Amino acid sequence: MSGLIDPATARAEIDLAAFRANAQGLAAHAAPAQLMVVVKADGYGHGMVACARAAREAGVPWLGVATPAEALALREAGDAGRLLAWLYGVEEDLAPLVAAEVDVSAQTVEQLSDLVAAAAVVEQRARVHLKIDTGLSRNGATVASWPELCRAAVEAEQVGALEVVGVWSHLAAADEPGHPSVPLQIEAFERACAAAEASGLRPALRHLANSAATLVLPETHYDLVRVGIAAYGLDPAPGLIARAGLALRPVMTLRASLAAVKELDAGAGVSYGWTWSATAPTTVGLVPLGYADGIPRHASNRGQVGFRGGRAPVRGRVCMDQVVVDLGTGTAAAVGEEVLVFGPGGSGEPTVADWAGWSDTIGYEIVSRIGSRVPRYQVGAGPADG
Ligand SMILES: Cc1ncc(COP(=O)(O)O)c(C=O)c1O
Repeated sequence: MSGLIDPATARAEIDLAAFRANAQGLAAHAAPAQLMVVVKADGYGHGMVACARAAREAGVPWLGVATPAEALALREAGDAGRLLAWLYGVEEDLAPLVAAEVDVSAQTVEQLSDLVAAAAVVEQRARVHLKIDTGLSRNGATVASWPELCRAAVEAEQVGALEVVGVWSHLAAADEPGHPSVPLQIEAFERACAAAEASGLRPALRHLANSAATLVLPETHYDLVRVGIAAYGLDPAPGLIARAGLALRPVMTLRASLAAVKELDAGAGVSYGWTWSATAPTTVGLVPLGYADGIPRHASNRGQVGFRGGRAPVRGRVCMDQVVVDLGTGTAAAVGEEVLVFGPGGSGEPTVADWAGWSDTIGYEIVSRIGSRVPRYQVGAGPADG
């Protein structure tokens, strides 16, 4: 348990049993490709270490993170499995990663040189995944620089400084079935893999697919798939989990207890700016979570919370630490009564997708921005989750 809010007041419940089951379902779906579960950004807000442990318990061979610090935090927490880190700056010391047997992505000759230097310092071979930009125009080597990167990698392999374990890329629009970028990126990826082979590299792992591609684009699976959002039981886009024939379960439920309950007269203005006023007498409840905790301010006057199996709408602006919800009349609501901000949806509560809709964003942003004050409370822990 972590966080600076008392868990009796508000907490994000993390269902590790659901997470393990999701990982197993996705692994079976992706087989014979191996599964990497992406646990960057504090496990998309769910708690990186707890999710990493649960993934390993579910038999997941690979974990993926963005930053070296995330990778090293996993090693410090005792994770000893295959782990890839892919985002670092020019000044970062890569030696601790090589020493900790973390696989590292490289997209430039300079990054390869840094890895060769790091390998020399720790007297260990670096494990490298060469990244090609196949059309996302984010990171990854350009097509023009790819042959030189491959040549440099071959030379580094020949002197025993590193081993090229993988060639990889990332898709721009796998969550939009039929998007023209997908076949173009597949083609560019296969050209890059062939060029790597022709230069003498023998990468065991080609990987391209994220959750959406893992779910509905089997032609992108290759040797390994990198799954983030789906492992947390959330759809990368509406309907993809169902199209894959999977029944994944949302892992996070955000609960809070009403911190205050009061009667409002008709005409009372609510929250900053009085953007909502009661048109009739009603009872409002105070939810002790705000935009500092990840409740989107964009959902002011749009969001809803689950209350007694139904919904209570957000009234007025979402504040930094609190939100006012309308409990209606005749409810005799009490301070301390529970509301469900979001959850799997089985008890009438909104889902992460509902909040994403009310906030003009995606579910990824809703869960990964649940703030550090909110305690993560794990349920369904396996033997090693503690
Ligand atoms: C390089 C890379 N691979 C895989 C993923 C996982 O994506 P998703 O959460 O859509 O499965 C991410 C997440 O953004 C990523 O940055």
